[in-house]
Amino acid sequence: MGPRTILYTGKGGVGKTSVAACTARRTARDGLRTLVISTDPAHSLSDSLEAELGAEPVEVGERLWGQEVKAQDEMERHWSGVQDWLGELFVERGVDRISAEELSVPPGMDELFSLLRLQAHHASGNWDVIVVDCAPTGETLRLLSFPDIARWWIEKVFPKERQILAAAGPIARSLLDIPLPTEAVFADIQRLSQSLIAMNQILRDRERSTIRLVMNPDKMVIGEAMRTFTYLNLYGYLTDAVIVNRVFPEEVGSYFARWRTLQEEHLELVTSAFAPVPVLRAPYFEQEVAGAEMLDRLGCELFEKHDPEAVLHAAITQELTVSETGARLRLSLPFARKGDVTLKKVGLELVVRVDGQKRTIILPPALAAFRPSEATFEAGALEVTFDGEQRSSSSRRG
Ligand SMILES: Nc1ncnc2c1ncn2[C@@H]1O[C@H](COP(=O)(O)OP(=O)(O)OP(=O)(O)O)[C@@H](O)[C@H]1O
Ligand SMILES: [Mg+2]
Repeated sequence: MGPRTILYTGKGGVGKTSVAACTARRTARDGLRTLVISTDPAHSLSDSLEAELGAEPVEVGERLWGQEVKAQDEMERHWSGVQDWLGELFVERGVDRISAEELSVPPGMDELFSLLRLQAHHASGNWDVIVVDCAPTGETLRLLSFPDIARWWIEKVFPKERQILAAAGPIARSLLDIPLPTEAVFADIQRLSQSLIAMNQILRDRERSTIRLVMNPDKMVIGEAMRTFTYLNLYGYLTDAVIVNRVFPEEVGSYFARWRTLQEEHLELVTSAFAPVPVLRAPYFEQEVAGAEMLDRLGCELFEKHDPEAVLHAAITQELTVSETGARLRLSLPFARKGDVTLKKVGLELVVRVDGQKRTIILPPALAAFRPSEATFEAGALEVTFDGEQRSSSSRRG
C-alpha cells in the first residue's frame, strides 16, 4: 500500500505552505515517516520550516524530511527532446531564440514535471505520509486535467501519427519546411504520457490521496475555492477538507469589529458551500507563521479535532451504475449552474463541459453503444442516463 498523500492548494498567499508544513510536522510527531514536498516553482518551504532544503529530500526533524523540487532539472529530464524540436520549429517560423525557448514549455509544465516526482516517492516505500505544497489554484487545476489528455494522445493520436510519419516521413520532410519530430521526440512524449497516467492513478486513489483547499474568509478567495472544488470533482479528485486560515479572533478588538462580522458571514458561506466536507479553521496570529513553534501552534488549531493524516471525508463524487438496459452516471458538481453544462459522447468518450473547462471521461467498453438519453441537473449533481436499447436493436440489425 502506498503512502498517504495530501495535496494543499488554493489562491496565492492564503497559507498553503504554512498549512502543508504544519501538517507534516504533526504527522511526523505522530510517528509517521513524513515527506513534505514543494512543487510550486516559487518555493517558500525552506523559509516556513526554517531549514535549508534542496532538490532531494533533506532531513529536517525526527521522521520529517523536506524537498523543494527544482522545476528546471525535471524539465530537462522529461522535456528536453521535445523542447529542442519545438524550439527549432518556432525559430524556423521566424520566432526569435529566446521567445522560442519560452514557447516550447507550455505554462504550468514546470509544476507538472515536479509533481511527477511523486511516483518515485510512492514506489520507494520510504514514506508513510507525503504532504504536497502545490502552486496556486489555476496552475494546479490545469495540471490535474493533463493525465486525461495524455491518455487520449497516447491511445488515439500517437499510433496514427507514427504510422503516417513512418510512411510519409521522407517525402513530408522534403515537402514541408518544418522539422518533423524524430523518434526521440515520440519516445519522450510517450514516456511522459505514461508517467502522467501513472501519476493520475496515484492521485485518483481516493483511499490514499486527497486534496485540501486552503482559503481565507474573504469573498473572492472563497469564490475561487468553490470553482476549484467543482473542477476537482469533475476531474474525479477527492477533496477531503477545507481549510479556512487567518480568521480574526475575538481579541482583535473594536478596530476589526466590522471585519469580524464580515468574516462570520463568509464562514457561513464556506460551511454551506462545501458541506459535508469538513471545514478546519485557524486564527490570524499576531505574528508570521514560520519555524517550529508557530507551525505547531497552527497545527494545534487546525487539527484540534481531526487526525491530520486521516481521510477526513470520503464522498464519491462520480458514480457509474450499469444495468442490462442502460447506465447512469452521477457527477457531483456543487457550484455548476445547469446552463453551464454540456455533454457529448463519442464512442467510449463522454465529454462534459462546465464553465468552459473540459473533462473527457472514458467509459467502460460495455457502454460503447449506449447513448446519453437524458441529463438532469439537480442538487449539485449531474445525472446522465444512458440508453442501452439501441445497442441490442442495432446488433440485431447488424
Ligand atoms: N494563520 C496565520 N496567521 C498569521 N500569518 C499567517 C497565517 N498563515 C500564514 N501566515 C503568513 O502569511 C504569509 C503567506 O503564507 P504562506 O506562504 O503559507 O501562503 P501560500 O499560500 O503558500 O503563499 P504562496 O501562494 O505565495 O505560495 C506568510 O508570511 C505566513 O507566515
Ligand atoms: Mg507557498
